[in-house]
Amino acid sequence: MTFSQMWDELQPIGRDPGTGGYRRYAWTPVDATLREWFTGAAEARGLEVVLDRAGNQWAWWGNPDETPGVVLGSHLDSVPDGGAFDGPLGVVSAFAALDGLPARPSTPIGIVNFADEEGARFGVACTGSRLLTGALRPEAALALRDGDGTALGEVIGVGPEHVGRDEQTLRRIGAFVELHVEQGRALVDTGDAVGIGASIWPHGRWRVELPGEANHAGTTALADRRDPMLALAALVQQVRASAQRHDALATCGKVAVSPNAVNAVPSSVTAWVDARGADEARVRAVLAEIEAAVVAAGGRLVEESWTGSTPFTPSLSRELQAILGPVPVLPTGAGHDAGVLATAGVPSAMLFVRNPTGVSHSPAEHAEESDCLAGVAALTAVLAGLL
Ligand code: GLV
Ligand code: MN
Ligand code: MN
Repeated sequence: MTFSQMWDELQPIGRDPGTGGYRRYAWTPVDATLREWFTGAAEARGLEVVLDRAGNQWAWWGNPDETPGVVLGSHLDSVPDGGAFDGPLGVVSAFAALDGLPARPSTPIGIVNFADEEGARFGVACTGSRLLTGALRPEAALALRDGDGTALGEVIGVGPEHVGRDEQTLRRIGAFVELHVEQGRALVDTGDAVGIGASIWPHGRWRVELPGEANHAGTTALADRRDPMLALAALVQQVRASAQRHDALATCGKVAVSPNAVNAVPSSVTAWVDARGADEARVRAVLAEIEAAVVAAGGRLVEESWTGSTPFTPSLSRELQAILGPVPVLPTGAGHDAGVLATAGVPSAMLFVRNPTGVSHSPAEHAEESDCLAGVAALTAVLAGLL
């Protein structure tokens, strides 16, 4: 089955007909369909599919317990109304790269589908790879709840006594190469279809709780209100101003208003802030300003996740450069499972495929088919070169 045929099979799964965006959240019926697709694609190629202690799917050729394998892959979940490429491009390209080898080698090959990379359901990005490496403690993971109150432990598909760092799976990975759509426009500017990842910017997520007092919208004088929406408005402005001041990026992209009624002053607002930057100092400076403003408004700010500056494994990235020749080497502001693995000491690297608009985490995310095929060719060359 060709790259395009696999791509076409995945297209309808989890796409919202209204927005055209994808709603592929971890451990939902849509995710189960994606996992079935992964199993089918793997079994059609004679690979053995296993689940690890973090709910990630691995498809193996050969015996990785004898010799660690070369692993390709990415994730199949999405952000709310995400694009088609972020994640699936890496998984489909992995199968296509395997198909592109002239013969199956004696060295094992793995293809992985990491669980809940976006953290869209349970709030923590890269849940599957963080659990696998122990960066996320099992007790903390099992206690995570989605917006409906369902605990991660109820849906992960691995008994709670088995969830956690998975030594056997980690030993099986000789090297991990994640191909991904570029989430920016650097390759447009350089005129290259494919680039190599250098490092991931430090980034984190924070929850902001802004208390208020519920009251009638038609009878409560403005002077008598404790309206948390005013604090939210100030927060949104503060996020932007602080990011600008420190030459960083910060976003307030998710808000929960309680009780969310048109004719009531809200009782509380919860907002989430995502902040990233070229170095930790500037991100921390942004957060310090935001926190001071939140506290002054009577609220509080809680760090939900933090990832420091993450270089991919330099020796492996150099091998990719040697195999692919002179292609751009790019930093990225987006988080990836390859970064989590690299931090845990698993040799990991990334390839990026040109995105003509740079738009990502949006239905408008795109890569031309010819660039996707150039990505597959690069990944095939990398796979062959690392075996
Ligand atoms: C993942 O795509 C992230 O960077 O949030
Ligand atoms: Mn993403
Ligand atoms: Mn991704």
